[in-house]
Amino acid sequence: MTKIISIHSYRGGTGKSNITANLVTSIALQGKQVVVIDCDIQSPGIHNIFDLNESDIDKTLNDYFWGRATIYETIYDVSQETGIKNEGKILLIPASVNADEIARILSEGYNVNLIHQGIQELIKNLNLDYVFIDTHPGLSKEVFLSIAISHIFLVVLRPDRQDFQGTAIIIDLAKQLMIPKMMLLVNKVVNSINFNDLKIQIENTYGIPIVGMFPVSEEMFLLGSNGIFCQEYAYHNWTKNLRIVAEEILKA
Ligand SMILES: Nc1ncnc2c1ncn2[C@@H]1O[C@H](COP(=O)(O)OP(=O)(O)OP(=O)(O)O)[C@@H](O)[C@H]1O
Ligand SMILES: [Mg+2]
Repeated sequence: MTKIISIHSYRGGTGKSNITANLVTSIALQGKQVVVIDCDIQSPGIHNIFDLNESDIDKTLNDYFWGRATIYETIYDVSQETGIKNEGKILLIPASVNADEIARILSEGYNVNLIHQGIQELIKNLNLDYVFIDTHPGLSKEVFLSIAISHIFLVVLRPDRQDFQGTAIIIDLAKQLMIPKMMLLVNKVVNSINFNDLKIQIENTYGIPIVGMFPVSEEMFLLGSNGIFCQEYAYHNWTKNLRIVAEEILKA
């Protein structure tokens, strides 16, 4: 059965897109077939992490929404760019970075059911193990849908009071939608904090297990979304944590 995984955060910049790209890569390296969809239509960007240039992108998720492309025409195989050499595959569906097309989405919105239909079609016709959805932060009807269709809902937060409050709202919603599995991941934790104390505090607050406490990393800033961190820094603490989360997803 193909599993759908949504990665979300209440506030922006928590690290969702980098975490998604690195999880997808780690899982594909295990020989899995993975689709990753940039559902952050308002401010897309995950294609950069996979080193897919705008000049090499023809059809996007936007074209699919507007009936200008089939869902298959929006797929880009980025396995080679990410160093996958086995039977694993990463198929990326990017969103448009064209200003007019983003403006059109902002003014008209889009039919969220098309995402569901597109994913179901891909699942039916391609031999997929996982579909990952990189989302726009905050709450919207698109986010509701992506949570509702997920087998695993991964919520990313930083150790920040604004993130804590927003995460509580997201978790409440996900509990009401009865998602089979919810995971919390804390990113950008400064090294002077006691990781274990913070973990216990957050787990007690939300009643959900934390799958990872990821350190803030100067190397991540240096990489600047210009590649897959786990491939560039294979022995980094962040990478070690990421691989544990990938294993959790593979086991789920
Ligand atoms: N642990 C970390 N330490 C330092 N920088 C990080 C870490 N994780 C992510 N970053 C940096 O934070 C920035 C935001 O990351 P990213 O784009 O993945 O977040 P996002 O949650 O997808 O943002 P948005 O909400 O805008 O989509 C990037 O510059 C990234 O390199
Ligand atoms: Mg993002």
